[in-house]
Amino acid sequence: MEKVDLLIHSAGQVCVMPGVSGPQRGAALGTLGLVENGAVAVRDGRILAVGSTIELQSKYEAEEVMDADGRCLIPGFVDPHTHIPWMGDRAGEFEQRLAGATYMEIMATGGGIMSTVRAVRQASVADLVADNRPRLERMLALGTTSVETKTGYGLNLAAELKQLEAMRLLNEALPIELTYTFLPAHAVPEEYNGRTDAYVDLVIEEMLPAGAEWMRQHNVSLFCDVFCEEGVFDVAQTRRILTAAAELGYRLKLHADEFVGLGGTMLAVELGAVSADHLVRTPEADIQALGQGDTVAVGLPGTPFGLAEPDYTPAKAIIKAGGALAVATDCNPGTSWCESQQMMMALACRYMGLTQAQALAAVTINAAYAIGRGREIGSLEPGKQADMLLLDTADYRQLGYRYGINLVRMVVKNGRVI
Ligand code: NIG
Ligand code: FE
Repeated sequence: MEKVDLLIHSAGQVCVMPGVSGPQRGAALGTLGLVENGAVAVRDGRILAVGSTIELQSKYEAEEVMDADGRCLIPGFVDPHTHIPWMGDRAGEFEQRLAGATYMEIMATGGGIMSTVRAVRQASVADLVADNRPRLERMLALGTTSVETKTGYGLNLAAELKQLEAMRLLNEALPIELTYTFLPAHAVPEEYNGRTDAYVDLVIEEMLPAGAEWMRQHNVSLFCDVFCEEGVFDVAQTRRILTAAAELGYRLKLHADEFVGLGGTMLAVELGAVSADHLVRTPEADIQALGQGDTVAVGLPGTPFGLAEPDYTPAKAIIKAGGALAVATDCNPGTSWCESQQMMMALACRYMGLTQAQALAAVTINAAYAIGRGREIGSLEPGKQADMLLLDTADYRQLGYRYGINLVRMVVKNGRVI
């Protein structure tokens, strides 16, 4: 008998969500790799084998044996787009929006992103860590084992670096695994009102090189992202920033087509961005481009929901074009304060027209590819990190169907039960 650290057996369903050679694209979205009465063997924090309970029980002798008692085992959720860390809240603005003001109107009068920027600029690194730690702990309890986090509430060099530092400390302190994105081009700060090009120059000449230096100093990789939107950064400005970022060694992401389809998605594909996110008002040509390129399309259904906007990411068209679709929370204080990928699955089923299996692939394997980590996380395949969730149900199809509760019973991160 071969020795392993952990053997979970008698799972009614093991949803492998296969994707070793790439994300689940087009019609392949929703491939479960379902093993009934299944088991998973873990060694050194990694998945060693997945198979039937009888087969694995006869092969492996485990330090720790766990009976899943017919429950469903799935990969840990990956949340590939959040705006953590931030300070404060914008409940007052939510009330204004309930009374009819729009998100972009509030932003144009100095509220919105800028009000969170004021709160973050005043905060210390320790404040940022203290306020965001419980948020990340809740996410982990809801089954998110890896999460993308970003800057973008600093909008000057010191405050942007402060956010990076908080992200790094949170990653060290918690079992949930963070990836880092630098987003100094999230909005034009008040000091640069009416001088967007001058702010773009500052981003390119001062902020991106400093972020690249931080990346080298800590030996981590950084994404660079831009909020490409009417009234924020146009396609030409976005291109300048992302081209400069790529030269400095950043991988690329993009906020595109949230309110107006400007061509940001096309640009993301052209520049080889790892993901293009939001994609609500995406033009047909851009949807076709997603089918041709490697950029993962990330739908954020919590955002139109939170804003009460009628349109969601056109998932069916993206799938038909052969694109790779992922889903994320966009967790932020302005448009979508939701920490739960389970809730996003429910919204994706109802408003993006996904099946539960497609929604599950979108928050696991494809979400892993959306942060460039599809080879290490997002599925229960041998060699991958043992990030797994034992659900409180025998059937994965309860995900997306039951919402507003936590269906995760147990979280395993890197082979360790949390
Ligand atoms: O993804 N669109 C830009 N950024 C966020 C909102 C951030 C905020 O309002 O604080 C989003 O929706
Ligand atoms: Fe966002």
